[in-house]
Amino acid sequence: MSFIHPLADVADSSIGEGTRVWQFVVILNGAKLGKDCNICAQTLIEGDVIIGDRVTLKSGVQLWDGTRIEDDAFIGPNVTFTNDPYPRSKEYPESFSGITIKRNASIGANATLLPGITIGEYAMVGAGAVVTRNVPAHAVVVGNPAKVIRFINKEINKACQVIEIQNDKDTTRHD
Ligand SMILES: CC(C)(COP(=O)(O)OP(=O)(O)OC[C@H]1O[C@@H](n2cnc3c(N)ncnc32)[C@H](O)[C@@H]1OP(=O)(O)O)[C@@H](O)C(=O)NCCC(=O)NCCS
Repeated sequence: MSFIHPLADVADSSIGEGTRVWQFVVILNGAKLGKDCNICAQTLIEGDVIIGDRVTLKSGVQLWDGTRIEDDAFIGPNVTFTNDPYPRSKEYPESFSGITIKRNASIGANATLLPGITIGEYAMVGAGAVVTRNVPAHAVVVGNPAKVIRFINKEINKACQVIEIQNDKDTTRHD
């Protein structure tokens, strides 16, 4: 069974076993959330959003239409997602440029992710980074615009073991 706090506003959506949804969370019609997720207070999830299993969504995050988050991803507090590269009030794109977070990736607090990018498996986005390009798997990126500073071994995710160091040119992969 999932847990939905009585102060959350959850529309007709699919919420997996063991997922916890805390105070002042808003989930719109059609959203799909996997099992054992933790959806912290004051987050908003639009309807065309798919979240995998064991995902952590910290407070202050809004997931807009087109967002896809795979299993075991960590989204830090106040991470900003986007889905429209040239926004204008009351004008809507034909389709939204959603962001994809691949499995086991982590996004540090207050990072900003530009429309349409993909964050690779096990990648680590530093706090406050502005991510303008796709981030390769296992990369650690920091800064504005975000650049790769190292790659981490997936088994030693927290220790950030260095397995490769790029040269000091533009190391962000543009694919
Ligand atoms: C990106 C991060 C994982 C790097 O950790 P690390 O590998 O231990 O990095 P270091 O502290 O050794 O720093 C390496 C260099 O990157 C810089 N750096 C580290 N994090 C940075 C960041 N978020 N933004 C800009 N520069 C950063 C450091 O200043 C240092 O630069 P220097 O070599 O010129 O001195 C970490 O700093 C970070 O931002 N973690 C996210 C924390 C967070 O938001 N948690 C949310 C849940 S509470």
